Amino acid sequence: DELEIGGHQHFMHKEMHEQPETVRRMLTGRLDDRFATARLDGLELEPRDLRAFRRVKILGCGSAYYVGEMGASMIEDLARIPADAEAASEFRYRNPIIEPDTLYVAVSQSGETADTLFAVREIQRKGGRVVGLVNVVGSSIARECDGGVYLHAGPEVAVASTKALTHMAVGFAMLAVALGRVRDLSYADGTRIINALKEIPDQISAILDQEGAIADVAKKIAAAPSLFFIGRVRGFPVAREGAQKFKEISYRHAEAYQASELKHGPLALISEELPTVAIVPRDDLLQRNIGAAHEIAARRGPLLVVTHEDVDLGDLEGERIVVPKSEDELDAILLTIPLQLLAYHAALTLGHDIDRPRNLAKSVTVE
Ligand code: AGP
Repeated sequence: DELEIGGHQHFMHKEMHEQPETVRRMLTGRLDDRFATARLDGLELEPRDLRAFRRVKILGCGSAYYVGEMGASMIEDLARIPADAEAASEFRYRNPIIEPDTLYVAVSQSGETADTLFAVREIQRKGGRVVGLVNVVGSSIARECDGGVYLHAGPEVAVASTKALTHMAVGFAMLAVALGRVRDLSYADGTRIINALKEIPDQISAILDQEGAIADVAKKIAAAPSLFFIGRVRGFPVAREGAQKFKEISYRHAEAYQASELKHGPLALISEELPTVAIVPRDDLLQRNIGAAHEIAARRGPLLVVTHEDVDLGDLEGERIVVPKSEDELDAILLTIPLQLLAYHAALTLGHDIDRPRNLAKSVTVE
């Protein structure tokens, strides 16, 4: 039963370990090999409707917002239309301009987050079309949106979200390929992405198999009062989510920075006391990311590099976690998983109440 904790010490642990199975279930019946696309019938949008959108705007709060940033990258990469994500909690207060040819996407695990729900209503009041990427079936956001895609992650009990976020990222990948295939994404590239999505469940299992090694690193990092998480472009939302998860349950200060911005200020903070978790995917920005890691090492900052096989880091010292490679556009989905385990084991080392961290609620239904 999904509401039983089973042999796990915490729901968060159980939910991380459910991911291969729940993602496999989510993908079932939604990947269309014949047309090299994703079938998202719940959107209630015909190909010609999908094609008419000139922009995508994603709204969510907290981790859902960070995954929305991953989704915006996937949409820009695969569909080549402008896309961005914004915190729904900010959007609603700034009298946003609603455009008729923008597809608005509200993303939420609970479907009850007040700020996101308000953003949905504001968009609709001004004539915009908003679809949902929601986990809880029949929730307020799911009901009020103009169509949407259920995430099918099953119940998530731990306050620190894990599997629902992975499902959001996979949902955005499917939306991106669907938007791409009614535009300029070729059949071959559509097939490349669809095939990569099919690999994701087994690749998540391979990361979960490294839990022991990640726990060892987490024990060392847990003692630090403060951490940096750095990434660049597609890796930056991964860093943001990694820092968020770490903060929520370890109560340690963790801050995400664009690796490209380090020299514009934060480098001043680097010392032996401040570990950095660096997201270093094997993609076209690899050498730049390796360069940033070396800048940190040169200032004696302890490093944990989250990277792919066959990446040559030179003489860089420090810890390393190697994640299976997906297609460049989808790497963020997998790079996020070891950061869940890292936060979990740091919090475990510190003896915190992992499933119910202080001051936080699972779903923020008040303003
Ligand atoms: C995630 O670990 C957090 N607890 C939090 O940021 C959460 O993602 C956010 O409050 C949004 O919740 P929702 O997905 O239910 O809308």
